[in-house]
Amino acid sequence: MDKLTISQPDDWHLHVRTGSILRTVIDHSARQFGRAVIMPNLKPPVTTVEQALNYRQEILDALPLGSAFQPLMTLYLTANTPVAEIKKVADAEHVYAFKLYPAGATTNSDAGVADIEAAYPLFAAMEKYDVPLLIHGEVTDAEYDIFDREKIFIDSKLSRLTRQFPTLRIVVEHLTTQEAVQFVESTGDNVAATITPQHLLYNRNAILAGGIHPHYYCLPILKREHHRQALLKAASSGNPKFFLGTDSAPHLTALKENSCGCAGCYSAHAALELYAEAFEQVGALDKLEGFASFYGADFYGLPRNTSSVTLEKQAWRVPDVYADTDVAITPLRAGEQLQWRVVSA
Ligand code: NCD
Ligand code: ZN
Repeated sequence: MDKLTISQPDDWHLHVRTGSILRTVIDHSARQFGRAVIMPNLKPPVTTVEQALNYRQEILDALPLGSAFQPLMTLYLTANTPVAEIKKVADAEHVYAFKLYPAGATTNSDAGVADIEAAYPLFAAMEKYDVPLLIHGEVTDAEYDIFDREKIFIDSKLSRLTRQFPTLRIVVEHLTTQEAVQFVESTGDNVAATITPQHLLYNRNAILAGGIHPHYYCLPILKREHHRQALLKAASSGNPKFFLGTDSAPHLTALKENSCGCAGCYSAHAALELYAEAFEQVGALDKLEGFASFYGADFYGLPRNTSSVTLEKQAWRVPDVYADTDVAITPLRAGEQLQWRVVSA
């Protein structure tokens, strides 16, 4: 197959930042996706509906003229989130979910939740008002091996949470392990998951073999090959619990290529192309549309997009860097060839 037309996809997990980074990256997502769930881990974090609506306006203002791209806003859950904010989200037109970052788990997560059990009254309110909870599923304590943090989170926190709140809609974000796939498969329809392109295409050798490659460093960290295989199988299975969420996370090149480099892969420049490559690897291009364009919308209770995008087999070279006056961002696969290209959207 060298041409593929699918319904316009959405990105159910996206970081776009603010200011000049936002202005540098937003076109990439808007060119491919109809909508994107916007992560709230700004500095300071987006914790109120009012802040989310202001942030949404900044994103809309940064879009190219005539773009129909819709940012779907989320709030950052903290230990101080008032229960009343949950009802506000349920009533707000443009805010769709809360994001739970265990404190210290990832970029800008210091304000996250340190004691998940203490947040149970908030989860009860989300369940009551049917507001989805998006979870960065990793434990953070220093004694845990970084490659085990997702599995331990599932065993020690998430399985209890899902039992306690059996109808709460949960998205386990950016799955990275076979155990996480099995967990999501074994839960009810109220629990779903996003999968990133880097976790479908790479294992941990991409970061660590033949030198250290900081642009492949993201959290949760890439795992062993058998985990990648499990993720590919889940994403291409046609199971509607698994859908597209790039976790595209732009950082300045200088802060990635650093003695303490930031976590996050920038993939928005070629998101759909990277997913197409992964699905093609397992002969499942026919399953890309459900994963990219249908299941996320269905889970969030939103209409599926009616427009379409076309991908063609057409080799192109990814730029070394995307730059603006005070911004330089190194994309995933910088300077390398990609085989698929979005030719119309
Ligand atoms: C994300 C970021 O940079 O905001 N980084 C990452 O490695 N994925 C945060 C996140 O989603 O964990
Ligand atoms: Zn993320």
